[in-house]
Amino acid sequence: MTKNKCLNLCLFVLLVISPKCLYAGAPSTRIDSLVSVMTLDEKLGQMTQMCFSTITLDGSKSLDLNVENFRDAIQRYHVGSFLSGSDNYEKWFAFITAIQKLAVEETRLKIPLIIGIDHVHGANYINEGTIFPHNLMLACSFNSAMAQNVARVTAIETAPVGLSWNFAPVLDVGKNPYWPRLYETFGEDPYLCATMGKAYIQAYENCPEIAPAKLSACAKHFIGYSDPKYGYDRSPSEIPMQALWEYFVPPFKTAFDGGVKTVMINSGELNGEAVHGSKFLLDTLLRQRLGFKGVAVTDIKDIERLVMMHHTNETQKEGTFRAIDAGIDMYMACNAYDFIRYVKELMAERRLSEQRIDASVKRILQLKFDLGLFDNPYPSRELLSKVNKEKNQDISQLVAEESIVLLKNENLLPLLGTKKIALAGIGANSKKMMNGPWSYDWMGASEELQPATMKTLYTAMANEFGAKHVNLLSAEGINTDKERRKFICQAKKSDLIVLAVGEKPYSEFMGNINDLTLDQDQLNLMDAAIETGKPVVIVLMEGRPRLFTQQASKVSAILFAGYPGTRGAEAITNILSGKVNPSGKLAFTYPFSAGHVIPYYYKPSEFNIYWREDKTQKNLFPFGHGLSYTQFEYTDLQLSDTLINNSSQTITATVKVKNIGSVDGQEAVLWYISDEIGTITRPNKLLKHAEKALIPVGEQKTFTFTIRPQDLAYPDKNGVQILENGKFKVSVGGLVKEFNFKK
Ligand code: GLC
Repeated sequence: MTKNKCLNLCLFVLLVISPKCLYAGAPSTRIDSLVSVMTLDEKLGQMTQMCFSTITLDGSKSLDLNVENFRDAIQRYHVGSFLSGSDNYEKWFAFITAIQKLAVEETRLKIPLIIGIDHVHGANYINEGTIFPHNLMLACSFNSAMAQNVARVTAIETAPVGLSWNFAPVLDVGKNPYWPRLYETFGEDPYLCATMGKAYIQAYENCPEIAPAKLSACAKHFIGYSDPKYGYDRSPSEIPMQALWEYFVPPFKTAFDGGVKTVMINSGELNGEAVHGSKFLLDTLLRQRLGFKGVAVTDIKDIERLVMMHHTNETQKEGTFRAIDAGIDMYMACNAYDFIRYVKELMAERRLSEQRIDASVKRILQLKFDLGLFDNPYPSRELLSKVNKEKNQDISQLVAEESIVLLKNENLLPLLGTKKIALAGIGANSKKMMNGPWSYDWMGASEELQPATMKTLYTAMANEFGAKHVNLLSAEGINTDKERRKFICQAKKSDLIVLAVGEKPYSEFMGNINDLTLDQDQLNLMDAAIETGKPVVIVLMEGRPRLFTQQASKVSAILFAGYPGTRGAEAITNILSGKVNPSGKLAFTYPFSAGHVIPYYYKPSEFNIYWREDKTQKNLFPFGHGLSYTQFEYTDLQLSDTLINNSSQTITATVKVKNIGSVDGQEAVLWYISDEIGTITRPNKLLKHAEKALIPVGEQKTFTFTIRPQDLAYPDKNGVQILENGKFKVSVGGLVKEFNFKK
């Protein structure tokens, strides 16, 4: 008997006596010893992730276990991971307890499962879970502490039911407002996406309140998913490598450097390559250049998409080879086991080696060990008892209040004194609109399945302003002249009109559009309100900047609220009433016209400016725009030096910001750097630092930005950081100072 076989026999005997002993010792030893006794089927089962729909009685996400199907999954296919359910705490508790118990007690090696969930804006697949504003709104807070709040509460509400793997945050940079997943991103700026993503991941993966439970976040969707050329979800992206390194890599690199445990791969194609089949993207870039060492999971059924959508492979077997050879570790197969069969065939044909398979299995087992699943994979009553829903919802309200952006205000808001308010629109009396997509269901659960305790904008405003002062009109949109006349007749009886307009919740490809302009019925409703001659307040409840340019010039006030979550109605109302002074700023450019979606860092067409006054309006509201009920005065921008003369020195920039208005307010101070001359063309400016603080009435605060040489560098097409001598500008609050860098 060879030495190896002898070792395996001893290990196997040990395993039978006490599996725990296998898992004793240093992680690498434990993993190596476990892998050494695993059969090929057991290994491939660990690389397979199935949807709960394959193991529930009715094939839905509701959690009633089909034990027969489940035993088949774990005993015949040795499946090591499942994803995606939606139910109440007790059902989650019972379901996860049952499947982990069966997995640990009824399989040879007793390897626990890892369960994935899309808790992308709170514990949104647990019926009583607290829902937060989606990332696009969260980013508008320009306050990474808010991202930490979201992550911490999500972890506190998720961990009790044994959901160890959260497919969040999205780190795609939201450059294309047509893309139906814009609201899942932290906006169009790479620095903001990296900062918010890092804060979220750090808080989610290191949450003391849930100790000893540990959770994994997931940086998604690597890479280039968010700038589809045609705007449709999963349509081709064409991003030059220099732009990929400068705009799309930073949030992922920051997450990898911060130790995020998993990454999910982009379903789409980038520069002619299906990402799931790209060895350059999934090995050279992801592993070798960016140093990611964790688990790379595919997006749902994306090996099949190589055949059915990208047509880069003729058969699923070839697609399987392509994806594994490119570098995926786990296949989100969802509802088929062909993956296992194809890998075994490819190994028999010596096209895939056991060494390659072992590399992925070891990463997956490492993740399970890191999350403590081998010690305790079960839900925790103790953690559940600590969940304080009221407190968590208060935090959700705080996040929403910091995220809502006051875009326009012609001395109308806050609404002081008793007024008769007409309220209408799709968001006027809807909980579903408040929570938006990915809320108790993929596209947002129906109204009756939203939490009973939630308020709508109508009930919140009636509470605040008095029921007799808020008149809820039935109009959600206007399509006929009869509807127009009826609305005008009703609305004219009030002093002012509040319209909650926008987009009904959508997810992924279900939100594909051909025109960024708001739907006509929404525009008609705005026009009718304007026609009354009453002051009009627009509350935008949407996942991306839908256009209403003509109407925007004729209304008195505009709030961007997005989908603000469980306490969104209270948050909006508190801003309307003045109880909260808005402090959000746009994390994206609000376009002026559908034909020109231009991120803030675009390079102005010098020709227009050089030859004639450039009259083209670039946007309706610029990135970083957001009003307050007070005014902030920026003065005295100072630099500690006007020359950085080597690669170590820094310059300290300071600016004074004074609250010269009549109410306390928070101000997000945004610092930009412009590279005046570059060997390659440089962006107009790039955000490099942001800091938010409360400034009481009459007080002045000094904000500081330490400019480092790396803030002046840019990546070339190979991702090599280039730092060139020359003139730079730092700008903040409209003030600008020049300085030079010289090696
Ligand atoms: C979806 C999404 C991805 C999500 C996954 C699991 O297709 O692209 O973001 O995490 O499937 O639900």
